[in-house]
Amino acid sequence: MTVRELCEMYTHLLDKDIQILENLSTNLSLIANLNKANVFIDCPVREGKHAIVVAEACGHSVKSVYDHPVVGKFAYEAFEPAVFYVLRTGKDMFVNRALTQEGAMVQQSVVPVKGECNRVIAVLIMEKVIHEEPETSKQFDRQDQQNSLVPEFIEESIFLINNQNRLVYTNPAAINLVSEICLTDCVLGESVFDYFPGFADVLASKEDILVKEMNIGKKIFQIKKFHLGNKNSNETFIIIRDLTELRDKERELISKSVAIREIHHRVKNNLQTVASLLRLQMRIGAPEESKPHLLVSLNRVLSISSVYEIILASSQVDHVDLLELIRKIGDMIVHTEEHARQSLSIEYSGDELHSIDSDIGISVALVVNELIHNCVKHAFEEGTEGKITVCFQKDGPELEIQVRDDGIGYSQALKPSLGLDIIRMTVENDLDGEFSIHRIKEGTLASVRFPYKR
Ligand SMILES: Nc1ncnc2c1ncn2[C@@H]1O[C@H](COP(=O)(O)OP(=O)(O)OP(=O)(O)O)[C@@H](O)[C@H]1O
Ligand SMILES: [Mg+2]
Repeated sequence: MTVRELCEMYTHLLDKDIQILENLSTNLSLIANLNKANVFIDCPVREGKHAIVVAEACGHSVKSVYDHPVVGKFAYEAFEPAVFYVLRTGKDMFVNRALTQEGAMVQQSVVPVKGECNRVIAVLIMEKVIHEEPETSKQFDRQDQQNSLVPEFIEESIFLINNQNRLVYTNPAAINLVSEICLTDCVLGESVFDYFPGFADVLASKEDILVKEMNIGKKIFQIKKFHLGNKNSNETFIIIRDLTELRDKERELISKSVAIREIHHRVKNNLQTVASLLRLQMRIGAPEESKPHLLVSLNRVLSISSVYEIILASSQVDHVDLLELIRKIGDMIVHTEEHARQSLSIEYSGDELHSIDSDIGISVALVVNELIHNCVKHAFEEGTEGKITVCFQKDGPELEIQVRDDGIGYSQALKPSLGLDIIRMTVENDLDGEFSIHRIKEGTLASVRFPYKR
């Protein structure tokens, strides 16, 4: 593909800019020959943060840095920090050692190509292979060479400072940071306090290793100091990480969970208002025969409201402690409701589940509420003792909840009813699970099985 085709397909460049690059590309092999190097033109792409190689040339007397042509390939910031520094700042950059995307070690020079209104439209890159050193020193140097490259690719800004507080080394991220915060160039040999007066405290502190957070302008940074005090050198590393985005995200999350908590609070209050209205209706206006029906609805509303109460009391808003929730509902039905006819007890056993999605919690609460109500209402004959057991069992990704009673045993209802239909619908539609109820040797066993992790 030609320079023009690539520019039109991938970049925002105007016709005049593309002409400039076309002219430049005709001279590219001349520049490459003169420097005995590889030369490229990279342009920023329209979308995303990378650049694209639109032209290349290799000096005829040298072996190319790359095994294959690279025109049309993308260049990424993580691998080509110098290219992006120049694209952003419009300044020249010369890196003694850089690693190409194909892993070769090169000496790299990058200069901006300017178009209309002095805008940086592309960069001209020259890369020369660094010649292999003699065999003897090679092994020793290899490690050193590669280690010294690492800082070039690190997102953190690294400053090495001598005992007079002057800059000895900066990585590309540090150079970018200075130009962004101080709006000036970062010059080696200058005092670090010229750029960051706030570092005086950090450098003055006696500790050899120090980590602290610092606000510079509108940004928040984590500053790490390492002092390398030995006989030969007395230098200090300062490593800076930008925490601004992280802190913003944290703040956003906190305010979201406050909002969720507030919504839960309102839902709970509204449900309790509905319950009070039903209670009032029962007390004053309802005919005697409709009171039991109102009571059933009242309990249904209260059991959903108790889910919200438990969610609000817990530290997380989107999760609930399932055992605590079921215990609260069961105790409420068995110990506090009017069913003076029998002496009833309820027990809970099995695997603990401290944290379950609150949506699941609400559905399970509704189901268990119906099941325990049925035990209390249908299982025991007047005057007899009764025992209800709720058992939780994890089975891989599924949870089984069994509600068992030692009463008269389940038999299908003759008249139409709502409870079991509510249970089936909730289990199948909301919990994506299965429900069964049957008579056992001593009483009734109802079981709900569903995947409990979302
Ligand atoms: N634990 C149980 N022991 C004995 N019989 C039961 C038990 N659970 C349910 N049943 C029988 O199943 C029938 C249907 O229960 P379902 O919950 O659907 O209706 P209900 O409890 O009668 O009315 P509601 O709609 O108020 O729940 C009950 O009427 C009862 O005969
Ligand atoms: Mg029922």
